[in-house]
Amino acid sequence: MVILKSTYEIEAIRKACQVVAECHRTIAPLIKPGITTNEIERIFEDIILKHGAKPYTKGYKGYPYATCASVNDVIAHGFPKDKPLEEGDIVTIDTVAELDGWLGDSAWSYAVGKISPTAEKLMRVTKECLDLGIAQAQPGNRLGDVTSAIQRHAESNGFGVVRDLLAHGIGRDLHEAPNYMHVGKPGKGLRIKEGMVFTIEPMLTEGTYLMSIDPDGWTARTLDGKLAAQYEHTIAITAEGPQILTEQ
Ligand code: MF3
Ligand code: CO
Repeated sequence: MVILKSTYEIEAIRKACQVVAECHRTIAPLIKPGITTNEIERIFEDIILKHGAKPYTKGYKGYPYATCASVNDVIAHGFPKDKPLEEGDIVTIDTVAELDGWLGDSAWSYAVGKISPTAEKLMRVTKECLDLGIAQAQPGNRLGDVTSAIQRHAESNGFGVVRDLLAHGIGRDLHEAPNYMHVGKPGKGLRIKEGMVFTIEPMLTEGTYLMSIDPDGWTARTLDGKLAAQYEHTIAITAEGPQILTEQ
């Protein structure tokens, strides 16, 4: 069942979310050729700890790091590495912070130096999908209004929408109900209500939306080796509409 949150609880979740937002704000100007995803990992973990928060993904179902660092054809859950990022790469950094028992979750794709027009378009359209989804997350609407807006925009631009990784409710747990794919039909699915807190986190692909998992048990890649991008916010549904708790 979906756990509705009070305005007081939403403010507590926002505090955890703002730790994650600070991580992204800090890293954005630092991502350039030569930086390693292990360096990004350390910067994120330092910021999280400095706020008295916990890097929630470290140890979550055995995941070993505070961040996921997903380069090029990696869709999600890539491990931070010592390999320097190269001009033309795109990298998605995802993290979850726990503050006072509440969680905040946000992923962001970054360009490394100058990237190809295709990579640029994939990143732009993925961010637009997130924004279009959020705009549909109004009390009284249904989840299908959110997901169909995402799917329509992605596919009309020639991109795939990953089905195998889901968005989720969030609060004291990382994956609360509802768990949902970023595809659907308008007017279908769960009705969106004031007090819901959930992520919207479309993963778009240049080619096929099908994925494989590496032998490490985590790294999710596009089956055809083409690019993937992701933007994720944690949002709260209020009487006035959606609020972006992880707003940078
Ligand atoms: N943002 C991811 C999610 O929505 C965080 C999970 S990372 C994990 O589930 F690797 F720890 F699972
Ligand atoms: Co998430």
